[in-house]
Amino acid sequence: MTVECVVERGIAKIVIDRPKALNALNAEVLQELQNAVTEIQNRKDVRVAIIQGGGEKCFVAGADIAEMANLDPLEGSEFGRLGQKVFSAVSELPFPTIAVIQGFALGGGCELALACDIRIASGKARFGQPEVGLGIIPGFGGTPRLARLIGPGQAKKLIFSAEMISAAQALGIGLVEQVVAPEQLNEAAMKLAQAIATKSPNAVHFAKIAINQGLEGSLEEGMRLEAGIFGLCFASPEQKVGMTAFLEKRTVEF
Ligand code: CAA
Repeated sequence: MTVECVVERGIAKIVIDRPKALNALNAEVLQELQNAVTEIQNRKDVRVAIIQGGGEKCFVAGADIAEMANLDPLEGSEFGRLGQKVFSAVSELPFPTIAVIQGFALGGGCELALACDIRIASGKARFGQPEVGLGIIPGFGGTPRLARLIGPGQAKKLIFSAEMISAAQALGIGLVEQVVAPEQLNEAAMKLAQAIATKSPNAVHFAKIAINQGLEGSLEEGMRLEAGIFGLCFASPEQKVGMTAFLEKRTVEF
């Protein structure tokens, strides 16, 4: 098994560990990642998921170049769709996902980080979309996701140049949300995961839906969606529990 998934105290940790190929994603690894996602997506005890690469050097070095080298156009398209499907399953998980990036996040690795809700990186991490240097384009959702996250200009600069950038540069263009010292990476990720895991799971889930779907349409549509979901929160016992605890000056436990 290359992809490991453990759940502990509401936090699922998915680790892609394929040291021989710097955690590169071949069809088998993608299928294992899909299985891990399927395993946790309906579990009521999971409140947040962390996705990381095994070892010190790499988050994920991209799609497996050796596996792609001899594909024909139909096989290429099929491989792209497989990666897109698995990454969409990651992005549609009903709870927040955090990519924890200790080293290289290149090509499909950067795209996997983009499919997560939040990215925390070590100061040693490096990012890039090197595909055009291989004669292809990003194929696991990178073109639309990167442009949405950092804007079309920065996305085009990264993709057209295939330039590799540092964690500090990634932070500067909004490609990651937090950069910490390498030895603090796991602790920082756990701290954020724990903070999320103690909040109302329903409210966090609804907030994710409101943000993601709100980005798809106009501001007006986003407002209408928010009003509907805001109302729905009042149908959840968690709203009563949270507000009552506040008014009674008690610590809330969800
Ligand atoms: N696919 C397959 N194997 C890979 C790989 C990849 N993406 N990245 C690294 N490896 C393998 C290397 O072939 C090498 O294997 P051997 O030991 O058998 O020769 C091993 O991992 C170690 O790699 P390096 O010797 O290259 O390690 P390095 O420290 O010199 O360099 C690196 C590290 C900068 C990450 C470099 O390995 C690299 O540039 N990797 C490729 C990155 C890349 O181009 N990714 C994009 C792939 S295309 C894609 O992802 C398309 C898409 O959008 C879906």
